[in-house]
Amino acid sequence: MATKRGALIVLEGVDKAGKTTQCNKLVSALQQSGRPAEMLRFPDRTTTIGQMISAYLEKKSELEDHTIHLLFSANRWELVPIMKKKLEQGITLVVDRYAFSGVAFTSAKPGFSLDWCKNSDTGLPNPDLVMYLQLSPAQAALRGQFGEERYETSNFQRKVQQKFEQLIQDSSVNWKVRVEEHCVTQ
Ligand code: TMP
Repeated sequence: MATKRGALIVLEGVDKAGKTTQCNKLVSALQQSGRPAEMLRFPDRTTTIGQMISAYLEKKSELEDHTIHLLFSANRWELVPIMKKKLEQGITLVVDRYAFSGVAFTSAKPGFSLDWCKNSDTGLPNPDLVMYLQLSPAQAALRGQFGEERYETSNFQRKVQQKFEQLIQDSSVNWKVRVEEHCVTQ
């Protein structure tokens, strides 16, 4: 009998929304119920492209805004063969950020349309479910280490949140929104 394809589950939200904690819990719960599951995260900072992204986020290097957007996208594409293989093997992938973060963060910068931002990710494997963890930027700022990396300012996170709120209107994506008071602090 053919192996049942694994599910592709994505968690999205502003920085410090608790995505990593929830991804870990979901992977454990799936594994305990006998379903093979693994976690992935984007950016994957271990690859050559990921290291360029990491240096940019840590403010150790400067990159032009279109360039960094395309690097984030390339970082997803380079993982696609592995993702497809695991899904075909029946492994459910729980992914901490995906193309929605790519679109929300870049389009929060001046001069970027949602459409332009979506283009480079067109054709990536479609998630079966996208959980959006909603957290106000004020709450996010109270959580640990806010402000260390690029983008971690309340002002920018507010813009990102507005972009996510536009993205969750897209009914072709299976969005589930989880509100802040139910989130677990990272
Ligand atoms: P994280 O590794 O703590 O999740 O942080 C990654 C940062 O990069 C976060 O501020 C969101 C941002 N980001 C983008 O700007 N574009 C992307 O495509 C992704 C995946 C993340």
